[in-house]
Amino acid sequence: MLNKALKAGFMKDYLNSPLIIRLMVKNDLPLVLKIIDETMLPEDVDSAKHTFMLYFLEKEGKISSSIYLSKFSLGEFYVAELNGMVVGVSGFYKYDYSYWLGWFAVNPKYQGNGVGTMLLKKVEEKVRKSGAKELFVYTSMHQKFEKARKFYMRKGFKKVENVTYPRIEEDMVFFCKKL
Ligand SMILES: CC(C)(COP(=O)(O)OP(=O)(O)OC[C@H]1O[C@@H](n2cnc3c(N)ncnc32)[C@H](O)[C@@H]1OP(=O)(O)O)[C@@H](O)C(=O)NCCC(=O)NCCS
Repeated sequence: MLNKALKAGFMKDYLNSPLIIRLMVKNDLPLVLKIIDETMLPEDVDSAKHTFMLYFLEKEGKISSSIYLSKFSLGEFYVAELNGMVVGVSGFYKYDYSYWLGWFAVNPKYQGNGVGTMLLKKVEEKVRKSGAKELFVYTSMHQKFEKARKFYMRKGFKKVENVTYPRIEEDMVFFCKKL
């Protein structure tokens, strides 16, 4: 009952307030990691922490991606903000010449309201401007990511088999969207 009321409250907030998509800053990290913790696998939190630590060090000019990554480079990461609260995250990175969607997650209480759609749109716009003709994403076949797999298919991504990517594990599925 309480959950229902809370959810109704969140929806009302959502409908009455503008959703802002902006670049992620360091202060967003605790909420971003909380969202990843609530939506992904336990090991993903440390991995995200590591990625974002490098991302901010690079943004601050303290390191260059060539130091820690070979063919990878981090692009930009964005958050969706509602009433001053971070409710979603997404961004992209480059591997060789391909662009990849990464760390895409929305607070479960706000899912199904278009937040993910807006975050994806932002990434697509940005990579298109960078000259990319396609956007890749991979996800696990784990049941936790079923919503995401369906989301990608509905947003115009198609499954692809032959992908050049360094960490191919058995239960991974790759998608590509023509931009
Ligand atoms: C995948 C994920 C990010 C999508 O986020 P989301 O905010 O729920 O996405 P949206 O609300 O934009 O889209 C979901 C549905 O809401 C619908 N929707 C509702 N209101 C909408 C609005 N105002 N505008 C656009 N779409 C709206 C969409 O059409 C879509 O419906 P459909 O699934 O029938 O097409 C989210 O499910 C998630 O965090 N999953 C767990 C983490 C995860 O798996 N991440 C990906 C790892 S690779």
